[in-house]
Amino acid sequence: MSAQKLAVLTGATGGLGRVFAHRLLKDGWRLLLVARQRNALQAMVAQLGPEHQAIAVDLCDDKAPVQVAHQAAMMGGASLLVNNAGVNRMVAFEDMTQAELTQQLQVNLVSPTCLTYAMLDQLEANQGTIVNIGSALGAIGFPYQSVYCASKFGLRGFSEALSRELDGRVSVKYLAPRAADTAINDESVRLLNKKLGNTMDCPQVVADEFMALLKSKAKRKGLGFPEKFFARLNGALPELVDGSIIKQLSTIRAHFAAQSAKLSSR
Ligand SMILES: NC(=O)c1ccc[n+]([C@@H]2O[C@H](COP(=O)([O-])OP(=O)(O)OC[C@H]3O[C@@H](n4cnc5c(N)ncnc54)[C@H](OP(=O)(O)O)[C@@H]3O)[C@@H](O)[C@H]2O)c1
Repeated sequence: MSAQKLAVLTGATGGLGRVFAHRLLKDGWRLLLVARQRNALQAMVAQLGPEHQAIAVDLCDDKAPVQVAHQAAMMGGASLLVNNAGVNRMVAFEDMTQAELTQQLQVNLVSPTCLTYAMLDQLEANQGTIVNIGSALGAIGFPYQSVYCASKFGLRGFSEALSRELDGRVSVKYLAPRAADTAINDESVRLLNKKLGNTMDCPQVVADEFMALLKSKAKRKGLGFPEKFFARLNGALPELVDGSIIKQLSTIRAHFAAQSAKLSSR
């Protein structure tokens, strides 16, 4: 059995996941990579080295948490679980399908909770750590992101409560990136972020903060100004933040109206 500690990383094939994987590798971790795309996972393992493994699962599948936990146990047991897989589409609430709404809650909230549950004995045996990847939108309700916000507010609440419950047994941490330059943001969202003056971090910056959180005693970390400030203000005095966000609504509505006009003219 390898002496290197094992990290289970979901969303490993994504924009942030790939950079997290390389940083963890550089820091001496062995990896179990989790995502749906088998080919992309196999290519990553081929690049990272034979001591690493991957498992292709859909995290919406009820059996996925047990399958991932079993493979991690076969690799000697995990010391780190990074719940990073996530989905988002910026859209008016009434324009979502029920299937999409359920999928967002499933991938972003239910699956990290169930995977944590399935892996808890290994993590505790190894005095391990869980890092849940949330969002600035886990503390600030934003229009056209209502279900994503619901999932990330939920993940933040889960992380905080579990961190307090498992104190001294397993370390539970929560990272809240702001917008970052990955495929989760399509061209339309990038354009809107420009119109709203929102900054997008590069994945390397998010990975620096991720590694800093992992190595510190801190339980939570947010990224970027003014997002960190607004998250705190929204927690204390949400009525002050209502106004500044509602002011942006006309820009958001006009943006989506223009996008749908463009689509229907094709
Ligand atoms: N980028 C941002 O602007 C931003 C900002 C704040 C927070 N975040 C959070 O950061 C995390 C990583 O996002 P990202 O930017 O790296 O997104 P991304 O590039 O779209 O990657 C998403 C990852 O999740 C995996 N995934 C999606 N649905 C899955 C499912 N049903 N089962 C298994 N795996 C699934 C994808 O792999 P497969 O497609 O192969 O399954 C992929 O590896 C997410 O939790 C996101 O909410 C991102």
